Amino acid sequence: MLIIDGKKVSIDLKSELKVRVDEHRAATGKVPGLTVIIVGEDPASQVYVRNKAKSCKETGMHSSVIEMEASTSEEALLSKIRELNDDPDVHGILVQQPLPKQIDEFAVTLAIDPAKDVDGFHPENLGRLVMGHLDKCFVSCTPYGILELLGRYNIETKGRHCVVVGRSNIVGKPMANLMLQKLDATNCTVTICHSATKDIPSYTRQADILIAAIGKAGFITADMVKPGAVVIDVGINRIDDPSTKSGSRLVGDVDYDGVSALASAMTPVPGGVGPMTIAMLLKNTLQSFERANNLQ
Ligand code: GUN
Repeated sequence: MLIIDGKKVSIDLKSELKVRVDEHRAATGKVPGLTVIIVGEDPASQVYVRNKAKSCKETGMHSSVIEMEASTSEEALLSKIRELNDDPDVHGILVQQPLPKQIDEFAVTLAIDPAKDVDGFHPENLGRLVMGHLDKCFVSCTPYGILELLGRYNIETKGRHCVVVGRSNIVGKPMANLMLQKLDATNCTVTICHSATKDIPSYTRQADILIAAIGKAGFITADMVKPGAVVIDVGINRIDDPSTKSGSRLVGDVDYDGVSALASAMTPVPGGVGPMTIAMLLKNTLQSFERANNLQ
């Protein structure tokens, strides 16, 4: 079984991005800039935001983090976003989710200039993706990272059946639409399963490429997988494990031990899809900078 090593690919990709950032700095004196806004003190979000800022600096990009109090009003956040929309040194704006309940996440998504929406959440970007204009949009980072992995590992996709389990706006919906496109790393027949699907195993067993984005630890078991399938695990679930020092560990949506015995290729958790998400955020930020400065 081939282990699809997202950790390694993300390191390769970040060093490729750094080369381009260094070239742009030498030629223009400017570098891409990402601004992340975090509202409140959710501990998991704080870790994500710190990692995003650290990776940005590693590739030579500029990064700043704006911390706003948990009691921040929607209007105050929207006003900050408008300020960043107008700042020519800011190429990427990311508002970390989840947001406190007084703030409407969709209103926030709509407020971000689509040309700086490096998360790819704005309907303008998702709509362009659905219509196949991938070179003129931002693709949501997790599905984009999976596409990059399939491409770099030369996984055959054309005409194969891809089953996506999960229909979130951030992963499932953009992922299924990407796999449907007429691209080298896609061109699949696509099925989407979700929480109301009757008999999910009857679909997953037909998958040549199975993408699990459900958010339930070990949901996909060996009896749900066709021998030889390529299995992509998007899940990041923390489960209790008294045998570890911290008392817990991270597992995916796929039962790794059972499924790895019959899959032909598989992403591990951790070290599969996760590290690719940040790398693609940086790729999107670089792309935004290049578009803004006519450097493509
Ligand atoms: N929260 C968890 N993942 C993400 C992400 O990719 N983008 C944003 N904005 N918030 C998140």
